[in-house]
Amino acid sequence: MKIELEVNGTAKTVEVSPWKRLLDALREDLHLTGTKEGCGEGECGACTVILDGEAVNSCLVAVGQCHGRSITTVEGLANGDVLHAVQRALVACGGAQCGICTPGIAVCAAHVVDRGLVAGRDDQSARAQVRELLAGNICRCTGYQLIVDAIIAAAREVAR
Ligand code: FES
Ligand code: FES
Repeated sequence: MKIELEVNGTAKTVEVSPWKRLLDALREDLHLTGTKEGCGEGECGACTVILDGEAVNSCLVAVGQCHGRSITTVEGLANGDVLHAVQRALVACGGAQCGICTPGIAVCAAHVVDRGLVAGRDDQSARAQVRELLAGNICRCTGYQLIVDAIIAAAREVAR
């Protein structure tokens, strides 16, 4: 079946089973391997993409459900050679180690930061909010502290 998608602002067509996981269609058919598979069961958030403005686990979405819809993957965050503020902050703060969780966290955090949902809050409530927003993203390496630091730094930069 031909499935039409808008991926990172560009129209794409994939010819696949509508039951194929969006995660696999992105990685195998569109060669967007930035989106990672961790658990494959909707638990870890490594596969997070934005589908029509909502963060979803692409391992739980059939590509047939995405026909005519808009998807943002981690490859769509940068503007040319300029990384998104969240990506730069993750690097600067040391918020990435093995990197498996990083694309999902970057996608999720960029979505939140771009909507101004963190900036302007006092430090304690901003941290609590970021932790809540990332509740679906598991990181086995960093202990989360540096990720939270990075997202708050990015939110403040974007708000300036
Ligand atoms: S791989 Fe999709 S939530 Fe873990
Ligand atoms: S950096 Fe390794 S799982 Fe998060």
